[in-house]
Amino acid sequence: MAIDYEYSDEEFEVENRMLDAEYSENDADTEISLRPKRLDDYIGQDKVKENLKIYIAAARERKEMLDHVLLYGPPGLGKTTLAGIIASEMNVNIRVTSGPAIEKPGDLVAMLTNLGENDILFIDEIHRLQRSVEEILYPAMEDYEIDIVLGKGPSARSMRMKLPHFTLIGATTRAGQLSTPLRDRFGVLFKLELYTPDELSSIVSRSASILGYEIDKGGAYRIASCSRGTPRIANRLLKRTRDFAQIKGDGIISDKIARITLDALEIDHLGLDNVDRRMLETIIKVYRGGPVGLDTLAATVGEEAVTIEDVYEPYLMQIGFLSRTPRGRCATSLAYDHLGIPFGGNDNQTSLI
Ligand code: ADE
Repeated sequence: MAIDYEYSDEEFEVENRMLDAEYSENDADTEISLRPKRLDDYIGQDKVKENLKIYIAAARERKEMLDHVLLYGPPGLGKTTLAGIIASEMNVNIRVTSGPAIEKPGDLVAMLTNLGENDILFIDEIHRLQRSVEEILYPAMEDYEIDIVLGKGPSARSMRMKLPHFTLIGATTRAGQLSTPLRDRFGVLFKLELYTPDELSSIVSRSASILGYEIDKGGAYRIASCSRGTPRIANRLLKRTRDFAQIKGDGIISDKIARITLDALEIDHLGLDNVDRRMLETIIKVYRGGPVGLDTLAATVGEEAVTIEDVYEPYLMQIGFLSRTPRGRCATSLAYDHLGIPFGGNDNQTSLI
């Protein structure tokens, strides 16, 4: 099975924030070596795995390829990993690219015409495809054909070209931004959820064993519970904890070493960092707990609205610190408690929904 990666420069921008679930260049080596290759080695996302097993077995029995698949959910949960697993399980090649890397229709045409029969084309951040590129996908996904325009002006001619049968796997953090015609062409839709601390703890132990790090249960659990439900963050914290274990301890990643590492990184016991705390403090102190509109909040904390929505909010909502209401974002009484600020008014979470 061949894996071919094609990413734009923009996606390799270096990110400093330890807890940012977005992909960063520093994750490349470990992520690739830690990626499970088989569905049975993939921890968590049980519902997705259960259904995927059926679809894969059925397609294999019929000697057909899988229907087009859309994977959506917050960053860092394993969408690319899952696409690779689907390719291994179907025993086909996968070609990996991303929405922003496909700049013009010709780029996509070249990719589609180079696919082999039954191959998988994986497009990460598919919501960022340009409309002119997206339009090529419609007949490609539906009829395995594309229209090629030859020449320009009045003498231009359009020619239909047959493509090999292929499976498109699209991944996005924002399913809502996908156009309806594109979304409707996917036969299988999977939403990936944040992982539980138990699942993350198993992922951390598995990663440590592959990388040859010594870790005990307490160490794995501590890292897991501070990783915002996200394997990418857990694996990143594991690497940093290993440095502390080597220099400050006896090489073994224990609960104590994990706590020393997290203190040094200013990550608290729930996995919140300075940016999370600043955002919650802003809602509480500047906007009296909310509601505050997303754009106003973004401007006040100096982050982009999409980053707040995709990266910070899913975890803060999962742990019950933030609620999204029709009138804006609200901090809950749990967030006040966590920051040690007396909760004076209504609990917005219960009063506004
Ligand atoms: N590494 C990253 N994500 C994983 C997962 N879901 N299962 C196993 N290992 C992983």
